[in-house]
Amino acid sequence: MPAEKSSARLVIHRGQTSANENSFAEDVRAGLTATPKKLLPKYFYDALGSHLFEAICQLPEYYPTRAEAEIFEHHAAEIISSLNGRLTLVELGSGSSVKTRFLIEALIARQGRLHYQPVDISATMLEQSAQELLKIYPELHITGQARDYTQGLGAIERSSGESILALFLGSNIGNYDPPEAIALLRQIRRTLHEGDGLLLGADLKKPVAILEAAYDDALGVTAAFNLNLLLRINRELGADFDLKRFQHRAIYNHTQGRVEMHLVSRRAQKIHLNALGLMIEMQAGETIHTENSYKYDQQQLSQMAAAAGFSAKRVWLDKEERFSSNLWLAS
Ligand code: TRP
Repeated sequence: MPAEKSSARLVIHRGQTSANENSFAEDVRAGLTATPKKLLPKYFYDALGSHLFEAICQLPEYYPTRAEAEIFEHHAAEIISSLNGRLTLVELGSGSSVKTRFLIEALIARQGRLHYQPVDISATMLEQSAQELLKIYPELHITGQARDYTQGLGAIERSSGESILALFLGSNIGNYDPPEAIALLRQIRRTLHEGDGLLLGADLKKPVAILEAAYDDALGVTAAFNLNLLLRINRELGADFDLKRFQHRAIYNHTQGRVEMHLVSRRAQKIHLNALGLMIEMQAGETIHTENSYKYDQQQLSQMAAAAGFSAKRVWLDKEERFSSNLWLAS
């Protein structure tokens, strides 16, 4: 297929680079001068981080991706048949879009053409996966946004007569504390009309050993993914983090119902961040909290749906009941 033809089917909007750079610097400053220290998970996904996450998705210990793919493989047609009319597919945090292919195929089979609108913080990942999809599916038009969710939601397109099926897959919702999760789901709800759908991936509570292994694999890929955040700070903010002086840690917090990811300082040390004119000190054993991944039960999920202005229509689980796909309707 000639390049112009596929590019005519692809539009990618980018977030404003200067504004992004600024907020990275300011978010890192705020996080590393807070007590306890923390960093925002959205910054994991530079080009290398996005590839490391794709590798995580293939690890034997990291079951969520496979469990969700299994659900779509068996139920894609049923999922989309729960919604009426012509649909446009929106995806927040689309990454490689590989699992999404099951839904894309089911929609193309039903309506012929499809407008797919992925939103992903990583421009390289977005561009690559969009090009792949266009090669496979001539019926597809893609409008991508290399932006964070909030910016992306503001620019969703809808042709007249179309309904929206929004996807928020993986364990993405789990990276938000409960009040922030509700706020984001409400924001999604506000961009939808009554009768539009949200397909929400949510990982389920399960034995601690399985959860902790999923976030601390034997190969050390998740450790590399976590440590890459320090590498990014070194590169983009002229910092001198010595990665060997930090250790990846994943622990399940029972009270909060979440896996916590930390970077633990192996010794007392000072770190300089040149671009910020900042020096921070860390004690031996002190941690930088980099991410939470909340795990849910059915009751929590129904409560979230109601709190965010949705009615829970149907839930699908994988065979081993590790992961849930929740179809909510905007009500
Ligand atoms: N959204 C993914 C999850 O919570 C992100 C993720 C997977 C992740 N493994 C990780 C984030 C390890 C930080 C560290 O499952």
